[in-house]
Amino acid sequence: MEVQEVELVMSAVAASQYPTTGYPEIGLVGRSNVGKSSLTNVLINRKSYARTSSQPGKTRTLNFYEVEKQLYFVDVPGYGYAKVSKKEREKFGVMIEEYLTQRDQLRGVIQLVDGRHAPTDDDVSMYQWLRYYHIPTLIVATKIDKIKPAVRNRETSLIRKTLNMNADDELLLFSAQTKLGKDEVWQWIEKKIGG
Ligand code: GTP
Ligand code: MG
Repeated sequence: MEVQEVELVMSAVAASQYPTTGYPEIGLVGRSNVGKSSLTNVLINRKSYARTSSQPGKTRTLNFYEVEKQLYFVDVPGYGYAKVSKKEREKFGVMIEEYLTQRDQLRGVIQLVDGRHAPTDDDVSMYQWLRYYHIPTLIVATKIDKIKPAVRNRETSLIRKTLNMNADDELLLFSAQTKLGKDEVWQWIEKKIGG
């Protein structure tokens, strides 16, 4: 999809604020600072529409980006962020869980992991949780520009093994810097939204 039109229509803290247009939604999840906003910007061809930062945990709401009046990207607050209070974290947790398990419009989730390292325990829990609820999930290993091409296969195997992925579970390598993987991510999204 060649995106011309995009608008952040809602930063929601409660289900009552979710959009009511009925467009299909694709959720983006991953640890703070993994590159969710950067991936969003690449997909929508903008340099800095979704706010990126070197300060983890900036995104604290469910952000609905309306794309081409056809779908939403929903940027989900990063998990594993230690600096917010326990109470605040529980509040986010409930909101995220409700969104991911109860939202009819949700067609799939893109879970980002840092392509430079083995997935963390939080990454593993998140992925197993998505599998448990049968939520169609694409793993995107990002920041791949930081990895030498010669070791990318090894890194891919490590991620698959650590997340305990099945052979037919989908994983793509991505870089917001070089835009590697952009077309493949879009293909996955279009398949999920049936466009
Ligand atoms: P929160 O909203 O805080 O949860 O973070 P996020 O997941 O949205 O991460 P964000 O996109 O803000 O990126 C965090 C940092 O990683 C920024 O400094 C980005 O420039 C950098 N980054 C993201 N993707 C890539 C990538 O593919 N390659 C490289 N080299 N850096 C990246
Ligand atoms: Mg972000």
